[in-house]
Amino acid sequence: MSKNDKDELICICNSVSYRRIEEAVEQGAKNYEDILEMTGAGGVCGGCIERVDDILRSLVVQ
Ligand code: FES
Repeated sequence: MSKNDKDELICICNSVSYRRIEEAVEQGAKNYEDILEMTGAGGVCGGCIERVDDILRSLVVQ
């Protein structure tokens, strides 16, 4: 993934980028609830939750 792709907004409502989600995972986020708490992603319209979940699954080592 290129640098610019990481700046892409995943959650429009709260302006949360891919990079911000990645940082939250690095800081210990393990599930969607952690991401919501740490970044606010998905807390408004909920339209990004599936995408956030996919990203989370790709980043978190199970
Ligand atoms: S796009 Fe994430 S809560 Fe609306």
